[in-house]
Amino acid sequence: MENSRVLVTGGAGFIGSNLIDALMEQNNEVVCLDNFSNGKRENIVHHEGSERFHFIEGDIRSLDTCHKACDGIDYVLHQAALGSVPRSIKNPILSTEVNIMGFLNMLVAARDAKVKRFVYAASSSTYGDSKTLPKVENVIGKPLSPYAITKYVNELYADNFSELYGLETVGLRYFNVFGRRQDPFGAYAAVIPKFVMALMKYESPVINGDGSFSRDFTYVDNVVQANQLAALVATPEAVNTVYNVACGERTDLNELVVVLRKNLAKFDPRVADVQATHGSSRAGDIPHSLADIGKAKCLLGYDPQFGFTAGIQAAAEWYFKNLDAVPSDE
Ligand SMILES: NC(=O)c1ccc[n+]([C@@H]2O[C@H](COP(=O)([O-])OP(=O)(O)OC[C@H]3O[C@@H](n4cnc5c(N)ncnc54)[C@H](O)[C@@H]3O)[C@@H](O)[C@H]2O)c1
Repeated sequence: MENSRVLVTGGAGFIGSNLIDALMEQNNEVVCLDNFSNGKRENIVHHEGSERFHFIEGDIRSLDTCHKACDGIDYVLHQAALGSVPRSIKNPILSTEVNIMGFLNMLVAARDAKVKRFVYAASSSTYGDSKTLPKVENVIGKPLSPYAITKYVNELYADNFSELYGLETVGLRYFNVFGRRQDPFGAYAAVIPKFVMALMKYESPVINGDGSFSRDFTYVDNVVQANQLAALVATPEAVNTVYNVACGERTDLNELVVVLRKNLAKFDPRVADVQATHGSSRAGDIPHSLADIGKAKCLLGYDPQFGFTAGIQAAAEWYFKNLDAVPSDE
């Protein structure tokens, strides 16, 4: 993607800021909309001062703000949402306000601004209690959390807007994304940065359950690639639909700790001695997740450049160089 005007909502967050880095490198003009509820200024501060970068501090729950952000935009990459299954179980109303009403505001604003395409972050949580493995886009189960409901409703609305108003949409069902800038702090931190943080402090990572639950962990650069392909793909059958965005490999949580420990120990040998412990399983967690990425490969030309191990290597190096983890015994 080059020389386009692209709006990234949630651009101060983990995935959004990685998208912005790639878009800026490719000479696009980028508008970032974020309310800093979970994102951080430090994720985008290196673009401040560039005349191709514009930041709007605002909330997608305001239709007026969404209209302003979409003005003159070619492509929307909509990432803003409240992530985390546990957060949505604790506060379903807030997750619904942001993830559904905010999403609807963005669709309306994108439609009114006549953008070329609206690409949005969908989620593997939409597969819910479906036992089918690998997950194929057209076979979903019953959602297991308010978060999963919000993400499924997003897909329904996007489909409806393409039917009713001709807005071109593409939903990308991300599967457990990880990589640079994913936040290890806070109650709702994702498993990889949380485990990295523990290991770097020589503390035992706590695995929920016996560690047999597995995920299709996906390095963030693969997600950046999928967004760009989704925005640009020209074949009509490739738009107004949803895609799995994943690696196509499944790793259980016990194995995850082993691989993380091995890669962090390259930088700090003491990490090699840290053992994991096990806690109780969490409500709303699906046991296994593995994507069939055939549809994205076939229709988008998606070709993930980072497998799980290569992604973990890159992430471990980034955390080691950037995370200020102070071991508790020092
Ligand atoms: N990280 C994953 O594994 C994963 C998996 C599936 C789907 N997703 C989806 O991908 C998207 C990005 O996730 P992420 O991991 O980068 O999360 P993140 O929390 O790092 O980024 C989300 C960003 O949205 C912003 N935001 C939240 N509410 C907002 C509001 N009302 N108005 C404006 N901005 C708001 C936050 O401040 C944050 O910067 C989300 O839609 C998430 O649901 C992520």
